[in-house]
Amino acid sequence: MKIVVTGGAGFIGSHFIKYILKKHPGYKILNVDKLTYAGNLENLEEIKDNPDYSFVKEDICNRKTIENAISGYDVIVNFAAESHVDRSINEPEVFLKTDVFGTFNLLEICRTRGIKKYIQISTDEVYGSADYGETFTEESRLNPSSPYSASKAAADLLVLSYYKTYKMSINIVRSSNNYGPNQYPEKFIPLFVTNAIEDKKLPLYGDGRNVRDWLFVMDNCAGIDTVLHKGVSGEIYNIAGESERENIFIAKKILKYLGKSEELIQFVNDRPGHDRRYSISCEKIKRIGWRQKTSLEDGLRLTVEWYRDNRQWWEKIKSGEFLKYYKTHYK
Ligand code: NAD
Ligand code: DAU
Repeated sequence: MKIVVTGGAGFIGSHFIKYILKKHPGYKILNVDKLTYAGNLENLEEIKDNPDYSFVKEDICNRKTIENAISGYDVIVNFAAESHVDRSINEPEVFLKTDVFGTFNLLEICRTRGIKKYIQISTDEVYGSADYGETFTEESRLNPSSPYSASKAAADLLVLSYYKTYKMSINIVRSSNNYGPNQYPEKFIPLFVTNAIEDKKLPLYGDGRNVRDWLFVMDNCAGIDTVLHKGVSGEIYNIAGESERENIFIAKKILKYLGKSEELIQFVNDRPGHDRRYSISCEKIKRIGWRQKTSLEDGLRLTVEWYRDNRQWWEKIKSGEFLKYYKTHYK
């Protein structure tokens, strides 16, 4: 199989590329990534010389170059996105451009160039907050809260429209909060782990009791691989971690693993429009054979150890672009 992975230099996309090359010898992967602040080719260092892997630096909004590059490929798996909710609150425009227009562009390329299959990497955030103890299924209504999740929901609707109107073969995958090595340290777990290692405060939003469902990144990659091979065209598949925890629970666990004091936790102003809880059912993808393998306990410990042992990966990020952003928006 010849797969175009967009956004493959980011957190999940880079793990997915490595997962596929290992699991399916002989598959070819073309990584198309603009290399925004979140794209990092160091994430792919170990496979960069693999003859089955190639890379093109390009924006998914740029149709012509991508059309030329992907000739002969069977499927596009679209990870490329602006992915951080806080950034979408401060600077929403680029979210509309990449997450909506970029998706449209890739769909058009598939339609006009005869690419056999398109997989959209979406998110549980499109369902909005599960405030009343409910658990969302693939049939639940879309009710996004942030410019990020609204842009992802818009993209999902476009993808579904290409299935209905043009009979294109598509799937949508909606997963819960991923965590693991190589996650950009603006996201909750890597920010808190790296701050704790540096004895810096851990800025916990609001009362710290918002709930996220944590999914180890390799289990997510296995789920996307399951959909790639066994997904029924036109169908949406949720991938859940089935590990819902309050943020304060995760913060305390991180501090415990690192042997640091809970006094590092600092309650700060809440995120505007902050979703209280995410909760999705993954019964549908289980029916096509996916099972989660990594417990939250094991995955979190492994993740903390990875950041502890790979300071060179995150120290330069935290002293460069991220620092500039952080200083602008968090004084
Ligand atoms: P990330 O921010 O780590 O990586 C995004 C990648 O996309 C980067 O390599 C970046 O350079 C690239 N990119 C951004 N704009 C681009 C453009 N215009 N053209 C080409 N490349 C571009 O994101 P992530 O956390 O790995 O998330 C990947 C996907 O999974 C996203 O679509 C996100 O919405 C979705 N998702 C993420 C999570 C999570 O917990 N991280 C959960 C569910 C769904
Ligand atoms: O649910 C899937 C989504 O998970 C993905 O679609 C997004 O791309 C991804 O960024 C993530 O969104 P969240 O907003 O849930 O993740 P984030 O890591 O930003 O925050 C997780 C929780 O931690 C959330 O309740 C906000 C809180 N938080 C976050 C940060 C960065 C804090 O308390 N302090 C912080 O500094």
